[in-house]
Amino acid sequence: EEDLAGIADLPKVELHLHHEGAAPPAFIRGLAKEKSVNLSGVFREDGSYAYRDFVHFLSVYEAATEVLKTPRDYARLTTALLEDCAKNGVIYCETFISPDFCGGGDLGAWREYLHAMQEAAAEAERDMGITLRGIVTCIRHFGPDKARPAARCAAETAGDWIVGFGMGGDENRGELRDFAYSFDMAREAGLQLTTHAGEWRGPSEVRSAVEDLRVARIGHGVRAIEDLALVDLLAETGVVLEVCPGSNVMLGVYPDLATHPIAELRERGVKVTVSTDDPPFFHTTMRQEYVTLAETFQWDAEVMREITRTAAEAAFCDEETRKTIL
Ligand code: HPA
Ligand code: ZN
Repeated sequence: EEDLAGIADLPKVELHLHHEGAAPPAFIRGLAKEKSVNLSGVFREDGSYAYRDFVHFLSVYEAATEVLKTPRDYARLTTALLEDCAKNGVIYCETFISPDFCGGGDLGAWREYLHAMQEAAAEAERDMGITLRGIVTCIRHFGPDKARPAARCAAETAGDWIVGFGMGGDENRGELRDFAYSFDMAREAGLQLTTHAGEWRGPSEVRSAVEDLRVARIGHGVRAIEDLALVDLLAETGVVLEVCPGSNVMLGVYPDLATHPIAELRERGVKVTVSTDDPPFFHTTMRQEYVTLAETFQWDAEVMREITRTAAEAAFCDEETRKTIL
């Protein structure tokens, strides 16, 4: 259909994308071969990433990072993922980057990884017109003591490229408030905040993200729909949800897109944006997310443009950069 083709080609803004989770499987296999690293168990026979459920996904994800051991590897990864983003019409994206994988929390090493990624991103911006910014991310199941050096790396490199601090990992482990020290450190360094919440745990987790960590955005947050007073609070305070519908369906948070709450959240006034999370893992792309949402909810190009605009307005970049994507 005419309109769907137009929607597929719209310029897009992606706010929720894990740097390693965006690695094309062929890229990881290539590195494994170069380095003679055995990645059995990471891939299915058809070459796609192999995992059974969310917790297993996290362990496969971490296994794949075994081939990403130098700043140069991360530069190459940055180029590879931005090529895929650009092919999908993405003009601006923010990726979650973890000091835990990039130098293990050591600040000197972290600076080297960052420098390499920024150089690759600048080249991609020149070649493909796509802009990347970084959100330093701690990993929930590594615990609060590992989050602190990650937050310190974030605080020390905060600026016009590292624009935010966040947390991913297993939502079922620990409590958000245990990470408040790290989020406070990042906020004091001028970084904007986001955390994964309300994907696996219910509305109280989303409330804790807002009240205990005082984040401006929430990764997923979709289970807020189970508490309409909380939905109203999100709408009134303008907290932005980084919704990843394809990821949610692949991981079984919802059985299908038709039962996904993104449309109801939007109708109730919540600022919703659309992202892919870990596109090759979840067999999705930004193009596909836009098209399937438009099909499922009968959203026209105007609605999809509005969602993109919401994402541009919620991006953590400076105002000068924002002007280029609005
Ligand atoms: N969710 C939570 N943590 C993650 C993810 C994800 O999709 N990818 C990598 N870490
Ligand atoms: Zn995520």
